[in-house]
Amino acid sequence: MVEVWWAQIGAARDAFVGDLDPVERGRLHAYVRDEDRARFLLGVTITRRVLGRRVSLPAARVGLDRTCVECGKPHGKVRADGVELSVTHSGELVGVAFSTRPVGLDVEKVDPGIDVDGVARVALSAEEARELTRYDGIARARAFTAYWTRREAVLKATGEGLRGELQAPVPAGIQVQELEVGADHRAALAVVSAEPPVVHVEDATQLLS
Ligand SMILES: CC(C)(COP(=O)(O)OP(=O)(O)OC[C@H]1O[C@@H](n2cnc3c(N)ncnc32)[C@H](O)[C@@H]1OP(=O)(O)O)[C@@H](O)C(=O)NCCC(=O)NCCS
Ligand SMILES: [Zn+2]
Repeated sequence: MVEVWWAQIGAARDAFVGDLDPVERGRLHAYVRDEDRARFLLGVTITRRVLGRRVSLPAARVGLDRTCVECGKPHGKVRADGVELSVTHSGELVGVAFSTRPVGLDVEKVDPGIDVDGVARVALSAEEARELTRYDGIARARAFTAYWTRREAVLKATGEGLRGELQAPVPAGIQVQELEVGADHRAALAVVSAEPPVVHVEDATQLLS
């Protein structure tokens, strides 16, 4: 079972900062752009509030570990006891997935000006690159972004991040699906599981109000 919670960037409030731990506050204040700060704050807040509700703890007391397995800095895949998590933000959207199995969630805002052919060559499989030739203009940018989020979701599920082999086919035992998030963004969910997961999509508006 996977729960995917989505918020719009406009839902961020200064008051949410009170629930962050010192490490998260440090990261929050290091962002230069307001929109990056808002997206990070929403990701943390959704994570803390959903987990807090599950275990009847105030959001601020939920224990999260952000240690990067590569370097030890607190910018890694977020972890908590008893649940698998994945956080993503891009453009107007922030999403957090909560799962019983290792999970990767990725959203990207569609960039209409993207050099699709240039990136597709390094980021997509030959078959995906071929598929893209069926589209033009914005449809092409959307199709590319859909493929891209699928790949990122897989790499985020395995925890490899972008060091993983981008052009490799999806490994067996990983279920990937596209999630509907409107015309301006594309999103995908990957779960390490033999069976396609049951997915519940939730709007975080209430949770954040
Ligand atoms: C993880 C990664 C794919 C995210 O891509 P992105 O599209 O730029 O950003 P997203 O908004 O979708 O995801 C960011 C979230 O991914 C999570 N994350 C970080 N590293 C991750 C990893 N290796 N695997 C899965 N998730 C990761 C974090 O929770 C982060 O959100 P938060 O810091 O706000 O909580 C990319 O940053 C990456 O490849 N990082 C790892 C690269 C690496 O090896 N880093 C080591 C540095 S020492
Ligand atoms: Zn690191």
